[in-house]
Amino acid sequence: MRRIMGGRVLLAMLPLLFWGVVNAADNRVTVEPGQAYFMYHCETCHLPNGTGTKLLARRVGADKSLLVRRTDLVGDYVRAVVRNGVGGMPWFTRVEVTDAELEEIVNYLTRNNPR
Ligand code: HEC
Repeated sequence: MRRIMGGRVLLAMLPLLFWGVVNAADNRVTVEPGQAYFMYHCETCHLPNGTGTKLLARRVGADKSLLVRRTDLVGDYVRAVVRNGVGGMPWFTRVEVTDAELEEIVNYLTRNNPR
């Protein structure tokens, strides 16, 4: 009898345990998929001291040189730059950056644009 009761108590606690796990997951620092792909494919050149940032500082100005802070990037422009390259930036094939990954990156880079 005591064993059965113990089992029931445990069973009754399961949802609580599960809630705790879900809640713990909610508290993680979340990285959106686009940010993760950007970190993987683009950040080497587009971090503060990267070649992309440095060349952009010369071409479009220091205030627009850091892509992650931009609020004026247009999706089609980002797609064209990534697929065709621009100046010192190499293009990326669909094997290197898939269309789905590129869409996530576009979402990430245009997230702060005024709507
Ligand atoms: C090997 C280095 C390198 C990598 C990797 C790289 N870029 Fe670039 N990127 C550059 C350089 C250099 C420029 C500036 C080219 C110029 O103006 O001559 C640039 C420019 C750009 C521009 C143009 C911004 C403007 O205002 O004209 C965009 C958009 C861009 N990169 C997006 C990306 C994205 C998205 C990725 C990842 C998929 C990426 N880049 C990866 C080097 C890189």
